[in-house]
Amino acid sequence: MTSERTKRAIIMGVGPEQGLGARLARRFAGEGLHVIVAGRTGESLETLVEGIRGDGGAATSVVADATREEDVLQLFDVAGDDLALAIYNAGNNTPGRIADMEAGYFEKAWRVGCFGGFLFGREAVRRMVPRGGGTLLFTGASASLRGRAGFGAFNAAKAGLRTLAQAMAKEYAADGVHVGHVVIDGAIGGDKIREAVPEYAEKLGEEGLIDLDGIVDGYLFLYRQPRRAWTFELDVRTSKERW
Ligand SMILES: NC(=O)c1ccc[n+]([C@@H]2O[C@H](COP(=O)([O-])OP(=O)(O)OC[C@H]3O[C@@H](n4cnc5c(N)ncnc54)[C@H](OP(=O)(O)O)[C@@H]3O)[C@@H](O)[C@H]2O)c1
Repeated sequence: MTSERTKRAIIMGVGPEQGLGARLARRFAGEGLHVIVAGRTGESLETLVEGIRGDGGAATSVVADATREEDVLQLFDVAGDDLALAIYNAGNNTPGRIADMEAGYFEKAWRVGCFGGFLFGREAVRRMVPRGGGTLLFTGASASLRGRAGFGAFNAAKAGLRTLAQAMAKEYAADGVHVGHVVIDGAIGGDKIREAVPEYAEKLGEEGLIDLDGIVDGYLFLYRQPRRAWTFELDVRTSKERW
C-alpha cells in the first residue's frame, strides 16, 4: 500500500502563481502528493516549486510544451509509475473570426486545446491502467459546450477535448481510471484575465470573476470520489454569469 506522499500528480499547463495550474499544484501538494508541474516557462515553474517545498510539500518542475510528443513522453518518464493524478490544464483562448483566420492559427489552437490533451491523456492511462487506476482530469471552458461568434478556433479545440475526455472516461473506467472534465464557465479571477484584459476584469468586478479556490475545490472533489460514485463533469460559474 502506497502512502499519499509517494503518490505522484502531474499538472500540464502551469503558469503564474495566481493561475489555475499553480493553484491546483499548491492544493494537491498540500494533500501530500508529490506534484510534477509542467509548462513552457522555467522561471515561473521554479518559483512555484520553491514555494511548495518551503511549505513542506514535494514538487518537481519540468519544462515541456504540451503539443510536442517528445516533451510529453519525457514528462511522464520523470513522474515514474505511481501516478495517482494527472491534470491537463493547458489551453489558451484564441479569439478570431473564421473568414480572417490563417489555417496555422486554427491548427495551433487545436494543438494546445485538444491534441495536447490526447498526448497527455494517452501517457496517463498507459501508467494508470497497470497500477490499477488513477484520476485523469481535463480543464474545459464555456467553449467546451457551445460555439460563440468570434471564438470558433477555441470552441472547436475545447469541444474536441471534452469529447476525448468523455470517450476516455468510458474506455478506461473498467480499469479503475476516473476521467473527469471541469467546465469553467466564465473568466477566472487570476493573473491571466487581470493582466491580459484589465478593463474586462474591471467591468466584471470581483463578484463576476470565478474564485480560484472554488475551482480547485472541484478538482479535489473529483479526485476523492470513491469508485462507486464517480462524476464525469463539473461546471463552475459565478452567480452573476448569464448562461
Ligand atoms: N483564464 C480564464 O479566465 C479561463 C476561463 C475558462 C477556462 N480557462 C481554462 O483554464 C485553463 C487554465 O487557464 P488560466 O488562464 O488560469 O491559466 P494558468 O492555469 O495560469 O496557466 C496555464 C498555463 O499553461 C501554459 N501553457 C500554455 N500553452 C502551453 C503549452 N503548449 N504547453 C505547456 N504549457 C502551456 C502557460 O504557461 P507558459 O506560457 O509558461 O507555458 C499558461 O500560463 C486553460 O485550459 C483555460 O482554457 C481559463
